[in-house]
Amino acid sequence: NDSWVLMVTAQTPTNIAVIKYWGKRDENLILPINDSISVTLDPAHLCTTTTVAVSPAFTQDRMWLNGKEISLSGGRYQNCLREIRSRANDVEDKKKGIKITKKGWEKLHLHIASYNNFPTAAGLASSAAGFACLVFSLAKLMNAKEDNGQLSAIARQGSGSACRSLYGGFVKWIMGKEENGSDSIAAQLVDEKHWDELVILIAVVSSRQKETSSTSGMRETVETSPLIQHRASEVVPKRIIQMEEAIRNRDFPTFTRLTCSDSNQFHAVCLDTSPPIFYMNDTSHRIISCVEKWNRSEGTPQVAYTFDAGPNAVLIARNRKAATLLLQRLLFYFPPESGADLNSYVVGDKSILK
Ligand code: PMV
Repeated sequence: NDSWVLMVTAQTPTNIAVIKYWGKRDENLILPINDSISVTLDPAHLCTTTTVAVSPAFTQDRMWLNGKEISLSGGRYQNCLREIRSRANDVEDKKKGIKITKKGWEKLHLHIASYNNFPTAAGLASSAAGFACLVFSLAKLMNAKEDNGQLSAIARQGSGSACRSLYGGFVKWIMGKEENGSDSIAAQLVDEKHWDELVILIAVVSSRQKETSSTSGMRETVETSPLIQHRASEVVPKRIIQMEEAIRNRDFPTFTRLTCSDSNQFHAVCLDTSPPIFYMNDTSHRIISCVEKWNRSEGTPQVAYTFDAGPNAVLIARNRKAATLLLQRLLFYFPPESGADLNSYVVGDKSILK
């Protein structure tokens, strides 16, 4: 009987790096040149929802992203599918009378439907949530016994930053030493309750797709930037230690200093690339100046900023009060009619808008 379908749906939030990953030492396995640390966002806001289905009626693996069919032939999808399939176990649904043996998975095909509730490829780490969700839902469907750390090493092969989305809270991606990447995995530093005063706002400066993908950007930086080696071997290792301590102690001033400096250095190595890569725009720069001035005038930092491979600002406020003031400031300096293309805000805690 070919009429059955078995499905699993999972939801995974995106993550934002506070110490950035930029540069690979192995492009196929996606092994980074430095450790990185991120914060996983609230699943209610920026997340991917993925449904994976298996049926004997399916004749090939297929995937739809936001309702449009996309090709699964790329190496990254193939690596993730292969790795998960090799870990499949027996699955039985007695009610439906379905039994798939470990061996049986090899002959079965998958249909995958994935939705992002935020703009794809606009520097909001859509691939992070996407690959983490894909790997997690497939592991559940196929009854893989791997823990989240082991699954993170598979998600990493889809998109590096994806490995950090398998955990909530603050997460470290340990670069690892092994050539086969087995120790390049994510680990949770603290869970989401540890520092729950923080409020994260994302100022969507532009939802257009970025011009330089992170893959080609990283390659060009590693090949041409004289600064990147210094960053990877001297600067980041020290920052990782300091950042872990700042997070454990909920030390917002140190956290802010490290987060802002690391974002700025990441964009500096992009500028140091030949030809230079510009991810931020004028509005991004004005947001930085506005936050820097405010933090200085308060005497103690209220907000940390960080920008990924795009112009959108991720703003981490020390608490709800600071987030409310920040939002007022942003709306004052960048009103919708001001000509700045700051078109919307996605807010970590929407209640502050009320
Ligand atoms: O995982 P990728 O290929 O999307 O690269 C992510 C790179 C940054 O977002 C800029 C930094 C990071 O650590 O997430």
